[in-house]
This record gives sequence, C-alpha cells and structure tokens, in this order.
Amino acid sequence: MVLVVDGLCKAYGEVVVADDVSFSLAHGECLGVIGPNGAGKSTLFHLLAGAVTPERGSIRLNGNELVGLPAHRRARMGVARAFQIPQPFAHLTVYENVLAAASFGAGLRGRAAADAAVAALERTGLHDRRSMLAGALPLLDRKRLEVAKGIAAAPKLLLLDEVAGGLTEREVQAMVELVRELKQSYAVIWIEHIPHALKAVADRVMVLHFGRKLLEDTPQAVMDSAIVREIYMGIPADAAA
Ligand SMILES: Nc1ncnc2c1ncn2[C@@H]1O[C@H](COP(=O)(O)OP(=O)(O)OP(=O)(O)O)[C@@H](O)[C@H]1O
Ligand SMILES: [Mg+2]
Repeated sequence: MVLVVDGLCKAYGEVVVADDVSFSLAHGECLGVIGPNGAGKSTLFHLLAGAVTPERGSIRLNGNELVGLPAHRRARMGVARAFQIPQPFAHLTVYENVLAAASFGAGLRGRAAADAAVAALERTGLHDRRSMLAGALPLLDRKRLEVAKGIAAAPKLLLLDEVAGGLTEREVQAMVELVRELKQSYAVIWIEHIPHALKAVADRVMVLHFGRKLLEDTPQAVMDSAIVREIYMGIPADAAA
C-alpha cells in the first residue's frame, strides 16, 4: 500500500472535520471522495499534506509515518496536491510555475528540475502554453496547471481537490482523460462533486459527512446507495430503500 490512514481525528472547536477516518490506497489506484460542502474533504487533504495536524491517528506513506512531519518534508517524500482554488504565481509563466514546483516540491535542481517541468507540461497538455503568464490561463488550463505542479514534484500520492469543478461538460471529459492516464503512475485521491467523472476514473469512492466516513465502495454502489441519496437529496434512507 502507498497510503495507509488509520483513525484520523480532527475538530475545529465544535466542528468535527475528521472523525476516526481510516482507508488505504495502492499505486495505480484512484480513490474518489465525495460529501456535502463542509464535510471535511479538503481538510482531509490538509491533514495528509501536513497543513493541519490531527488530534489522533496515523498516516503512513510507503510505511513511513507522516504525522508530525512538516508539509515540505511530506512533499519531498511524495505527497503532492492540486488545490481546489488554483493558486499559481500569476505573474510567472506556466513553465516557471511548474519549474518552481519541481524545485521546491521535489527538491530537484538545474537540468533535472527543467526536465521534470517539461515532462509535467507535456503530460498535462500544457506544453504549448508554457510561455503564457499563468494568470492569463482559462480555467481548464489553470486546473491543468495545478495538476502539472503536482506531478512535477515527483509524487507517490497525488491529491486532486475538485480539479473538474466549474468546468464545462467537454472540459470535464478532458480532465477525466487526464486523471485516468495519471492514475497509472501514482496513487490518486480525487475529491469531486461530479458523479460521472468519478465513475469513469475512481476504483472506489469514499463518502464523508461531518468528518465521518459513511461508506467506501465501487462508484456505482456508492452513487446508488440510500445513504448518498439521503445526504445529497434529503431522501430518508428507509424511504429510499
Ligand atoms: N482553519 C479552519 N478553522 C475553522 N474551521 C475550519 C477551518 N478550515 C475548515 N473549517 C471548517 O471545517 C469544515 C470542513 O471544511 P472543508 O473545507 O474540509 O470542507 P469540504 O468538504 O472541502 O467542503 P467543500 O465541498 O465546500 O469544498 C467546514 O465547516 C469549514 O468551515
Ligand atoms: Mg473542499
């Protein structure tokens, strides 16, 4: 297993954002994560990446405990994330943004960093736009740039937070193709609100609600489940059954 998460707990005051969350993930797998707004999905990524410290629980990456390590150490060990809100350096070019991720994320220097940046741009379909200022990119390409920054950092675990959010249907398809291709190389966790996108790529989907893992199953089983219908549409589980 690339990632083994066990008994993760975190609350902000009264708001429980991780309630004894456990799951694991292998190389070449994609775990989808769904749940209503505020369920704790992005917080899970903060916990994995080291921006937030859990109150309890363990996060092992290839057998190494991550809890207690700062974010930059985890990045070097192979945790990379694409943020929900793209945060490029708007006044740097697309290439420079990806080069920075290869340098600071993976700790690469010189030619190795440049090669990693070019490979990430090619793989995400951004190579033609490498000289554009990142701030001038349309949304799909800003999302692609988030992904390119993630893979430039030579990850083992790639965390994608709503990289298809806000895209047109055709653009969602493009992102689905990209993630499907990427998952062959990494362990991927994909938070997304678009059911058909997860169905096309995820091997399993985990449902979070008030920080609790309610369900983990195949995408189809999760989308068809009474629990998911209840939390998304307010249909009581027994009425839906
Ligand atoms: N730093 C913080 N301090 C206090 N509360 C926070 C903090 N970060 C997040 N929260 C709260 O924790 C809860 C979970 O937030 P989180 O961003 O993980 O939700 P999410 O599942 O990603 O939602 P969305 O689908 O809207 O992106 C929310 O109620 C949010 O307001
Ligand atoms: Mg979120």
